[in-house]
Parts: sequence; structure tokens; C-alpha cells
Amino acid sequence: MSTSTEQQSTEAAAFLPSPEFAATARISSMEQYEEMYRESIDSPDTFWAKEANDLSWQEPWSSVLEWNAPDAKWFSGAKVNMAENCLDRHLTSSRKNKAAILWEGEFGEKRTFTYQQLHREVCRFSNALLNEGVQAGDRVLLYMPMIPEAVIAMLACARIGAVHSVVFGGFSVESIVDRLSDCQATYVVTSDGSYRRGKAIPLKANVDEALKSYSGVKKCFVVQRTNTDIEMIDGRDVWWHDVTEAASVHHTAPGFDSEHPLFILYTSGSTGKPKGVLHTTGGYMVGTYSTCKYIFDMNDEDVYWCTADVGWITGHSYICYGPLLNGVTQVMYEGAPNYPDFSRFWKMVEDYSVSIFYTAPTAIRAFIKAGDDLPNAYDLSSLRLLGTVGEPINPEAWLWYHKVIGGGKCPIVDTWWQTETGAIMISPLPGATPTKPGTATRPFFGVDAVILDENGNECPLNTSGKLVVRKPWPSMLRGIYGDPQRFKDTYWSEYEGYYSVGDGAQKDDDKNTWIIGRLDDVLNVSGHRLGTAEIESALVAHSAVAEAAIVGRPHEIKGQAVVGFVILKGDQEAGDELVQELRKHVANLIGALARPDDLYIVAALPKTRSGKIMRRLLKELVATGKVTGNTTTLEDPKVIDDLVAKLQG
Ligand code: WTA
Repeated sequence: MSTSTEQQSTEAAAFLPSPEFAATARISSMEQYEEMYRESIDSPDTFWAKEANDLSWQEPWSSVLEWNAPDAKWFSGAKVNMAENCLDRHLTSSRKNKAAILWEGEFGEKRTFTYQQLHREVCRFSNALLNEGVQAGDRVLLYMPMIPEAVIAMLACARIGAVHSVVFGGFSVESIVDRLSDCQATYVVTSDGSYRRGKAIPLKANVDEALKSYSGVKKCFVVQRTNTDIEMIDGRDVWWHDVTEAASVHHTAPGFDSEHPLFILYTSGSTGKPKGVLHTTGGYMVGTYSTCKYIFDMNDEDVYWCTADVGWITGHSYICYGPLLNGVTQVMYEGAPNYPDFSRFWKMVEDYSVSIFYTAPTAIRAFIKAGDDLPNAYDLSSLRLLGTVGEPINPEAWLWYHKVIGGGKCPIVDTWWQTETGAIMISPLPGATPTKPGTATRPFFGVDAVILDENGNECPLNTSGKLVVRKPWPSMLRGIYGDPQRFKDTYWSEYEGYYSVGDGAQKDDDKNTWIIGRLDDVLNVSGHRLGTAEIESALVAHSAVAEAAIVGRPHEIKGQAVVGFVILKGDQEAGDELVQELRKHVANLIGALARPDDLYIVAALPKTRSGKIMRRLLKELVATGKVTGNTTTLEDPKVIDDLVAKLQG
């Protein structure tokens, strides 16, 4: 649900942080924000050195930033260990016996890890990885449920310098194969299965299937979660509990170069296969640490809960790394928000006295639909700060979140960022920034975000353009794995030396940035990025399909729904059975989240004379049922009439 420009009334009442919140917040006034922001832009070296000095470095940096666009080196020359900063650093203080993770399974089982216990488990698994031959720089693919072992595995990789690549558990066999072979992974960590709405979903079986098409994996570590019957291949598969039991709990964290790769995370682009976004160690660490500290205003007394999955960037930066770097206590939940019903989150907020809650607009819209009675039945008074991420939040959802969940007293941080940016880029600071429903407001420290027109000039206020970042920031991506040219072309070529975000945006009279949505052929379905090209190529991979076009249409809960149009090969029979088969085919090739909500078998697609599909017209058609946009470049205008008739049924 994109925020339409009409909705952006600049006169809309702003919500000011309460004096009580501001009184204890790290940043408590706009003057303080402006002053620090100025310093972060004018003297980034001084600003980021100060932030970095909160953390521990085994050897100091020789320079804070070396910038040769688009290549950045942050904290060059330093030696650092990410896991040591997340864990060992807290063991010499009272945080040692503080809960790091309060985990809850779908069935209500509870497991608690103090910082000391988490440290022991991470050391154990680090040693297990080393014992099985994993070396610094090796790529380890993780395909895991939301269980503590997922975080333990990420931290253990980081600890020994192995590069993790987490694949969301909802992705299919084909997606695993693509990612394994793109990053040439040699190790896999998975589990027998995962629970989703009470049902055991096979994970190891998917990995087995994937490993039939990719032979580079030496060892596969398997966590036992669902006790599902699985095949363990001799010499290749080992049980997590066996190898960790045999491993020592002692491990000294070695220092790695600040630019040592930390992880690769695949995300969809407008063309081709998903790209492996590469993040490195020192800068990403400082970026995730600082954003948690200032934007979530994390304190030792807080109980923080981010409802994302570790398979997405939010789970990396704001479940695994940022919160642990800050020594906070966090809740981690295994399953679905509606299991057994839509009161699950509110029950957990009450049970754990959650104080900071971070979720997605799509979830909020689903909660609204489920009714106020559910949250109203729980004591949510422990909450002091709310956050959202993933897509523009529609004002209705914002206001409901503020009133019904936040009791009218919690600031909301609407955080804009991306897999590529590594950390939050535009967001209110909760003790300082006046907020308005629907805007992510102001740039974080060090973020030089502007809105440019086609000619590279800054857009006047209240005029939309392309969002661009002009200066490097610590947690920025360092490349697309194995494809430096695609990295340059995708992000750095439109405006030479500037980072092109791919989102449209505009600023209001108060300098707030309103994100309008993706400008490229990327859909945002329930806050997840999906490339239209990726779904189209899945469809044409089916033997019945000659041509396919995918567009998004507004969807009440998911933000966008996936709509497909296909032209069949000459001899194929169109019918509902085939439609269902094609939808399933996409789910099999990519994952259930990419399955088209609607799929139309059509005789022709609207094309330009040069043969390009005019997605703009299809988009309008599925959103409004008609086409009023400019059709002068259409090769055959009659195609539109046929499509309108088809959609009317
Ligand atoms: C969108 C998710 C508006 C945006 C962290 C961006 C948002 C894409 C917001 C990145 C927000 C994310 N307001 N739009 N607060 N947060 N987006 O890589 O289009 O999965 O480019 O990272 O999500 O999605 P990604």
C-alpha cells in the first residue's frame, strides 16, 4: 500500500515525543539531532571514530574511511571480531548473566540464553565448524528455522571468519541451488524441519534435493527440531548435537581485517537472478550498533523484540547483530503471528514485558483486520517504543499501531533502509523527532540522502524524484558477490558516484522524507522484495508458457499482490487446472511468497512497437480495472479491450 502523494498533507498534525520519553532518551531534542547530524556529515571520521570506540578492536584502524567510489574501506587496518563484540565484550560486566535471548517456540516452549551461555554455545559451534574443516573465508549456507541455533550459527561463522549466507526457510529447492552455486558454498547448516502454524515443514529434505544439483558441499550440519524422519548421508551429514557435544566451550576470537567479508545475503533486483549483497565486518558492526543505540534507544533495562525472520536483512541487523552488540535482552519467536490466533504477539508482549517492539506494516494491517479485542485483552503497558520496517506504512495502520498497541504514548520509528544499506538510513529519533503517519522523517547520522530529478538536480520540496545517497556510510554494501560490474551498473551509474536507492520519494515542508515505493520492477509483497523478472522467468520455464508478465496490484494486507499474465504455447489448452498448476509451479521454483495471487491466461500482451511489454498499463489495469494512461505507443490498442474484458470475467 504505497503512500499516495495526496495523503501527504504537510499540515497533518505531528506527534511529538512525550517529555517522559525525551527525558531519558539519548537524543532528546531536534537541536541535539541537528548538531550531531551536522558533525556526522561535515566530519564523518571524527563522528564514526567516536561511535566505533564504544566497541572493542583487537588492533586500531589507520584510517576511518578510504573512499574511491564505489569502493569503501571503513576502519582500514583494524583487526576486529564481530562475535567477540556481540558476546565476549559483555562477559566482564553485569551483563554476563543477563538474558541475551528469550526464545519461544510455536507450541510455547521456552529457552533462555544468558550472554555467558550464548557465548559458550557459539564457542562450541565455532569449534565444531573448525573441527569439520571450515576455514576463514569459506561460504556457509544457512537454511534454518527461527530457533536460537540460527543466531548461534551466524555468530559462530562470524567468530571464525567464515561467511554466512542465510536463505529464508520459505524459499524452495531451486532457490537454494542458485544461492549455493552463486557463492560456491562448501558447508550447509540446516535443521530436520521447522514449525509453521503447528505443521512441520521439511528443511533437510529440501537441502538434500538441492545437493543433488550442486556437489560442492563437504559437510551439512543438522539441528534436530521437529524430529521428522530424515536421511543422514554418511560422511556428509552430521548432527548439530553430536558435533557440539564433542566440541570445547573455549575459543579465543581471532581478529579479522575490518573489511573481511561477514555475510552474503541474496535479494531480488529488477533483472536476472537475485544478487548476493556483500557486507563486511567493521563498518557494518558500527552501523548496526549505532542505529540500535540511537533509533531504538536501547538500554540495559529494555526487552526488545523484532518479529522478522533471520532469513531477511532485518533478522541479520536487528535480531542477530545490533541488539547483541548493545547487550540488550531480546525475545525471539519461532513461528507465525497468527498461531494459534492473532493474539499471539500481544500475549508475548505481556508475558515478557516487551518494551521495544519492531514489526512490519503488513503484520499491522493483518492485526487491524483481526480486531481490537485481541490486543485489548492483554497488558501492553510495558511498551515504550514501536518500530516498523519493510514498506511505506499507510496512515491508518500507523494511527492504529500508535493508539491500540502503543496506548497513545509510544513514539513510532518508521525505519527506511534496505538489504544493501545494512542498517537503518532514514528514521525518527524517538526522543527528538516529531513524527507524522507515513513518513520515515529524517536521515540518520552520516546519511546524506537527497531526492534528485532526471537531470541530477535536487527536487524542490513536495516534488517527487529518485532517492539517492551522496556519501558513503559504514554499513553500506561492499559489492554484489562475484559481479563487480553489476554492482556498478545497478547502484552507482545513474548518478556518477552516488548510491541509487531504487525508491521514489519526496520531501515535505518540514524536510521529512516520504518514501513512495520502488521505481524499478521489484514488488514489495508483505515487506519482501520480489523481482518481476524472476517470477516471469519461473513462468516461462514451464513447458506450456510462451510469454509472461508480472505486475503488482495494491493489496489490503500484503501491500502488493502478485498478478501474472501468460500467453500459452500454440497447442496448450487454457483452463483453471493449468492456472493452478502454473501458480504452484512458481511456488515450487521460488517459494510460496512468489506464488501469483491472480493469474490470467491471455491471447496477447500490450507491447510497444519495439516489442517491450508495457507493464505500466497492466499495472493500471489490475489496480483500477481500466486503462486511462497514455497508450499511443501501443502496437495494437485492441489488446487492452480484450484484457479489460478478461478481467471483468
Ligand atoms: C522498502 C528491508 C518505505 C523500500 C529492510 C526499500 C520501505 C525496500 C521502508 C528494501 C519504510 C523498507 N518505508 N519503504 N520504512 N522500509 N522499504 O532490502 O522500497 O528487503 O527499497 O530491506 O523496502 O527492502 P529490503
